[in-house]
Amino acid sequence: MIGKDLQKAIGDLIADELVAIPTETVYGLAANALSTFAVTKIFEAKNRPTFDPLIVHVPSLDHLEKYVKEIPDWAKRLAEEFWPGALTLLLPKRDIIPDLVTSGSDLVGIRIPQHPLTLELLTKLPFPLAAPSANPFGYISPTTAQHVEDQLGNKISYVLDGGPCTIGLESTIVGMKEGKPTVFRTGGIAVEDLEKVLKIEIPVQASSSKPLAPGMLDSHYAPKKPLHIGNIPQLVQKFHQSKIGILSFEHDYSNLARHAIALSPTHNLNEAAEKLFATMRNMDDCEIDVIITEKFPEVGLGRAINDRLSRASFKK
Ligand code: TXA
Ligand code: MG
Repeated sequence: MIGKDLQKAIGDLIADELVAIPTETVYGLAANALSTFAVTKIFEAKNRPTFDPLIVHVPSLDHLEKYVKEIPDWAKRLAEEFWPGALTLLLPKRDIIPDLVTSGSDLVGIRIPQHPLTLELLTKLPFPLAAPSANPFGYISPTTAQHVEDQLGNKISYVLDGGPCTIGLESTIVGMKEGKPTVFRTGGIAVEDLEKVLKIEIPVQASSSKPLAPGMLDSHYAPKKPLHIGNIPQLVQKFHQSKIGILSFEHDYSNLARHAIALSPTHNLNEAAEKLFATMRNMDDCEIDVIITEKFPEVGLGRAINDRLSRASFKK
């Protein structure tokens, strides 16, 4: 069931049920983060392996110290600058956070989301919310309440509708590696913006098939249809016998295929990010056999867009 009833969401979460929640990045599939019983339901509903840990969502900075043992200086500076916002920090967890939430790690991924309805929800609840993206494991993340309802509606008690997500890409994940703040997943906050605040270069951990953070799995965020990245006119030639959908950054390719979407004719990577996942879903649902796209500029949110496209194109 979809709705805007905050009281119902609160009641269901207190009863250890699953509720999908809006955030500025993507919709989350939320449960009481302190209840192993409730968190188990998240893994079941998503068909998610339990080696893939969950992000914990809190309403404000003063709640942080209940759940983490220490906040290093770099983390404090990033939190003060970007929270509420699309940034997840990996910090040493306190025992109150169940091991299932962190898949046995001593670190918990934690963030304050920037969405008025969800912030109000978090403020009114006596516990934080564990919430992965509200999609079946490996599929594209949802950016509207209807996306969640379509795929998980029969497995969860409520979808809290907060409108379409304004950023459209998952949060940027930052932790420590070899003594340095390191990005483990590019996302809704650009690496350049983190670097401006910390005044150091921040390495981005390359992807792998044996990931530390499973948003890093080679194949992830994937539509059902094959997706190819390259020079669009050349790929159109190569697949001329197929029904093609084209997903471009700014150029209009509607002369080359019946389904051709330019994510931002005005060359705006933030707008492209906002529309990316919904457009991939639409292409999955329409009458085409193959999705053709291109590499986006490798700056700002373009890095996270390229990361998602490359995982979506990975052949399983
Ligand atoms: O924007 C977001 O981050 C959204 C919204 C709902 O907050 N959530 C999200 O969650 O994208 P999920 O589960 O789809 O992706 C979270 C990623 C996973 O790849 C997970 O491995 C990593 O965060 N992660 C979470 N906790 C971690 C931990 N303790 N150590 C390492 N990685 C962690
Ligand atoms: Mg996810």
